[in-house]
Amino acid sequence: MHTALIGLQWGDEGKGKLIDCLSNSFDGVCRYQGGANAGHTIIFKGNKISLHLIPGGIFHPDKVCIIGNGTVIDIKQLEREIKELRKMSIEFDDRLFISKRAHIIQPEHFITENKIKKEIGTTGRGIGPAYADKSTRKGIRMGDIFSVKYLKDRGTSKDFIETLLRFREDYGHFITDTVELIHRFSEEKKKILFEGAQGVMLDIDFGTYPFVTSSNPSPGGILSGTGTSPFSISRIIGVAKTYTTRVGNGPFPSEMNQKMQERIREKGREYGATTGRPRKCGWMDLVALKYAIQITGATELALSKIDTLDGMHQVKIVKEYQLDGKISDRFPSEVWKFKDIKPIYTSLPGWNNTRGIHKKKELPKKALEYINYIEDFVGIEASMISNGQKRGDLIIG
Ligand code: IMP
Repeated sequence: MHTALIGLQWGDEGKGKLIDCLSNSFDGVCRYQGGANAGHTIIFKGNKISLHLIPGGIFHPDKVCIIGNGTVIDIKQLEREIKELRKMSIEFDDRLFISKRAHIIQPEHFITENKIKKEIGTTGRGIGPAYADKSTRKGIRMGDIFSVKYLKDRGTSKDFIETLLRFREDYGHFITDTVELIHRFSEEKKKILFEGAQGVMLDIDFGTYPFVTSSNPSPGGILSGTGTSPFSISRIIGVAKTYTTRVGNGPFPSEMNQKMQERIREKGREYGATTGRPRKCGWMDLVALKYAIQITGATELALSKIDTLDGMHQVKIVKEYQLDGKISDRFPSEVWKFKDIKPIYTSLPGWNNTRGIHKKKELPKKALEYINYIEDFVGIEASMISNGQKRGDLIIG
């Protein structure tokens, strides 16, 4: 049976490190949505590399890495990543698989993105226009690069056809029917870790629309983005930071005051891995978190960056919203309502130091109380707590 790891906030929950730590327990890692708008930086043997498309499992020599049909692929970015990994002597010719059905980001997509880029604060990676073309049946897919006639018939420009053919020559062997591959894996009882990009609050259906990405990071995206059976996933790990961050525009009810944001941003290195933009910082928002847990059906929580909150006098948590004079524990679906929302906070005492701890029960009492408060509120347990940047900075169980 397979496992999914899904962000429960507005992306950047620290999924990359967890994928890296968890990869050893799986046979393969699979991306199912999004494109090079996602990104995580990994330090491997002293070299720093940012991956945007290739799953983090690539650093584990025996793990299969799959880029599923629900993703949108910028082939130039993919080529950059392949080259960088090869420079690091990582071999993956027989274990990286790209879906024939994944859509290709075309040069026009970067141009048409300009307008939404400003309004929504997108990453500028052509994601929205590529998904729009997919929906209006104007897209081209990875498998199509094997027929020049088909590409021409679809009106693909001569220049871009040449780019695609160069890609095909060097990297065409990575392109395959990943649906078949995933089903073969399932039959052989091999385990896949489905790696979500972004997070539920950026989901095109369930997030703060229109300030969202153009795909479904939530579990529905795994089914449509890989072709796996709904019955093949038995474990869903929901990942949340112990506070909240957001890049781009749109509602962010638990946003901290500027001084506190600066403190958290510097301590937590809260700058976008893809765009370098400073992330807005907020307190843990349990209304949003509970909603995201409902949507994902998360069976357990992974909480990241508890160490960033070390040394605070007190930590705040949003537990309800006030809207039109009424108290509510529901996350509104209408974006225009957010301007009138007043978050209701509760404060808990802070703690000093969570670094170097490997067992949950050895955490400072107040840090544990904070985690217990979150667990009680959302009704699932934190099975993993990350307390530092390194692989080993992880409390399990
Ligand atoms: P797009 O996905 O580039 O279209 O951007 C849409 C929104 O999602 C913008 O607010 C982006 O900042 C946000 N976004 C997209 N990818 C990520 C991510 O990996 N982490 C955090 N925010 C993201």
